[in-house]
Amino acid sequence: MAVPVVDLPDPPGADVRENPTVAVVGLGYVGSCLAAALADRGLDVVGIDTDPELVGELRSGRCRFREHELEEVLSRVTAAGRLRVTGEHPAVSEADVVVVAVGTPIRDDGSMADGQLRAACLALSGHLRPGQLVLLKSTLAAGTTRDLVVPLLERGGLTAGTDFLLACTPERLAEGTALAELRTLPIVVGGIDARSTRAAAEFWRRALGVRVIEHDSPEAAEITKLASNWWIDLNIALANELAMFCALYGVDVLDVIEAANSLPKGSGNVNILLPSAGVGGSCLTKDPWMVWRSARGRGVELRTPRAGREVNEAMPGHTAQLIIDELVARGKDPARAKIAVLGLAFKNDTGDLRATPARGVIEALAKAGAEVRAHDPLVDPDQAEELLGVRPVESLHEAVRDADCLAVLALHRQFEDLDLAGLPVADSCLILDGRAYYPKETIARLRRLGHAYRGIGR
Ligand SMILES: NC(=O)c1ccc[n+]([C@@H]2O[C@H](COP(=O)([O-])OP(=O)(O)OC[C@H]3O[C@@H](n4cnc5c(N)ncnc54)[C@H](O)[C@@H]3O)[C@@H](O)[C@H]2O)c1
Repeated sequence: MAVPVVDLPDPPGADVRENPTVAVVGLGYVGSCLAAALADRGLDVVGIDTDPELVGELRSGRCRFREHELEEVLSRVTAAGRLRVTGEHPAVSEADVVVVAVGTPIRDDGSMADGQLRAACLALSGHLRPGQLVLLKSTLAAGTTRDLVVPLLERGGLTAGTDFLLACTPERLAEGTALAELRTLPIVVGGIDARSTRAAAEFWRRALGVRVIEHDSPEAAEITKLASNWWIDLNIALANELAMFCALYGVDVLDVIEAANSLPKGSGNVNILLPSAGVGGSCLTKDPWMVWRSARGRGVELRTPRAGREVNEAMPGHTAQLIIDELVARGKDPARAKIAVLGLAFKNDTGDLRATPARGVIEALAKAGAEVRAHDPLVDPDQAEELLGVRPVESLHEAVRDADCLAVLALHRQFEDLDLAGLPVADSCLILDGRAYYPKETIARLRRLGHAYRGIGR
């Protein structure tokens, strides 16, 4: 029988049972990874999602998210009976700990679209029971835990901080390495009171065996998550503009970054990230806007979140222009060119197409009249066709046959050992390196074969 969480005595750590049962609400990318990781650590997990198709898939052992190890772990924990999936919210009352991982996209004005979160909190409010610990894993605009989640959860008649505990513990994993990161990344927690913070910290320490960083408010936890992505996006924007600057002088931006990053600064070194064909995914593309919008709502106009976003949003267009200019320089008409795009996902080693820069690159190339073919073994072909207007072909060789340009926009593990010299591309093919960061020897070899090479700032 489940032991109530908050009825236990009160020394540090006593709020969480030795082996708590967990409900994960929202089984998207984050929820599926989290449910798999928790069940794999031996906890009993019930996963709840309102998407009946997703529930059906997960129940039958399939997984739509192309994430390293995820399918294996999900089928292992499902077979062991440690993960059960349902579409019914009442299942949360079985759990000691309720983890919310629903989507929080943004609206056109940059504000957080809270529809999924509202619906989830309202559904939960009717089924919470005294003693539970509720943890918010979704990325939240600053102030959301206290201003939106607390009043919604309390509609069921229980009081946050008294009847149940509540903390914001935002997820920071990166797609492609999600399960490994869940086992290692420190978790940030900020409860609505000291007891909630302590219970949340204790739960994550035990459940995932990771370090926990405790904040004294949910706002600090919410902002910490936003700060990381604000920094990453802005840093990549710097790398992208540095790449454009280096290109003016014929300098390889990667040489500059490597050397610049050798300078000790603050508690580490200068750490300029890598330039690329653009920033995509569900987090980096929205979190800076969420920051910008929240500040604006309080009368403060922040410039850096917006600047980073604007630079990075322009990169797909810049990449397409690099291709067009290079084709013209080689005497080829872009309107008659065949262009093969390798890697459609928003970054290496994921099948996630959300906000992928490949979309902007392909749109600009198609507008210039080029024939675009694509190949990506990780993405869902139907989804890709709907989003990009190009159906990826299964065979790499078919995609690249007679191509005037091979644009590598995501370098999945499957492409790492690709023999570029052995591909049936046209003579004098342009290799556009959008995210592969080919070493100098590879570039020299391509040039010896009569091909051209262009990278972002290379
Ligand atoms: N994807 C990432 O890499 C990543 C990383 C860190 C944090 N995050 C954050 O984590 C959160 C989830 O992201 P995601 O990528 O997993 O989103 P997602 O869109 O893949 O998944 C959200 C899931 O919640 C379900 N859902 C919606 N309303 C529900 C309800 N009322 N009850 C139960 N289920 C409901 C949806 O059906 C969907 O399956 C977001 O706030 C996101 O910003 C995402």
